[in-house]
Amino acid sequence: MAELSNALLEEILQQVRPLTRQGKVADYIPALAQVSPDYLGIAVLTREGTLYQAGDADVRFSIQSISKVLSLTLAQTRYQEQEIWQRVGKEPSGQPFNSLVQLEMERGKPRNPFINAGALVICDMLETRLTAPRQRMLEVVRQLCDEPSINYDRYVARSEFDHSARNAAIAWLMKSFGNFDNDVPGVLQTYFHYCSLAMSCQELARCFFYLANQGCPLGETTPILTVRQTRQINALLITSGMYDGAGEFAWRVGMPAKSGVGGGIIAIIPGEMTIAVWSPGLDASGNSLAGTAVLELLSEQLGCSIF
Ligand code: DON
Repeated sequence: MAELSNALLEEILQQVRPLTRQGKVADYIPALAQVSPDYLGIAVLTREGTLYQAGDADVRFSIQSISKVLSLTLAQTRYQEQEIWQRVGKEPSGQPFNSLVQLEMERGKPRNPFINAGALVICDMLETRLTAPRQRMLEVVRQLCDEPSINYDRYVARSEFDHSARNAAIAWLMKSFGNFDNDVPGVLQTYFHYCSLAMSCQELARCFFYLANQGCPLGETTPILTVRQTRQINALLITSGMYDGAGEFAWRVGMPAKSGVGGGIIAIIPGEMTIAVWSPGLDASGNSLAGTAVLELLSEQLGCSIF
């Protein structure tokens, strides 16, 4: 087995770099289509708090659906367990992240909180219980990362709002089934802002440390989630974090993980480390193609698949 070091991460990036051009940068959100496919970065934060990194680990990018883990976390701090899971399921969807087909057949209850429909329900719930859900999210993320400069990319949020037909259709369909309480455009705005959070691999690795540390953020003694809630998120990440690519990802990499169409992936090895990778080119499921390859190599070389 190899030992974790910056040199090992450099070596892995070098091996994977030719794949960066094989993926396709998301273009259904115009602001994302302008990002170069040549970025490639990784940051690993160990349980002891040691950070390893290589490539473009300090460059901020749009975290997109990775934010769905943060909105679920916020909801878990404001709602009882059964209140959440009566409105959203815990099963993998086996469908693309923005599909409407299953939602119609299953009467407006999304399969899980990581597909767009599920995240929109969670945002609707946050709208109900938080007075300023956008501000609150920023406070939480800034605190988790110990980085006050983290912010939304308003250009990306605007770009998504201008092309929101599909997400709006999802939200209205859920409203027609009685599974959406608040004003649809308002909740969409909050959802798009969350997706537009701009963070680097290094910041993501730190932000999600609590999932590797039984709910406790780096350098803190007060947990933000209970051990039970943390375990639940990691379980859902294994089954649904990579959408209809979750099975293949578990098989190749073997870590709870969440992707975003900005090309980022955050992976958790409970009790050991968090890993954030970034390469904007995506595979057919909307997951970073080279990012997945980086995680696969790292998993093999460190022997750190959870299976
Ligand atoms: O709503 C959307 O379609 C995007 N803001 C987020 C989708 C996404 O990141 C899916 N992840 N791979």
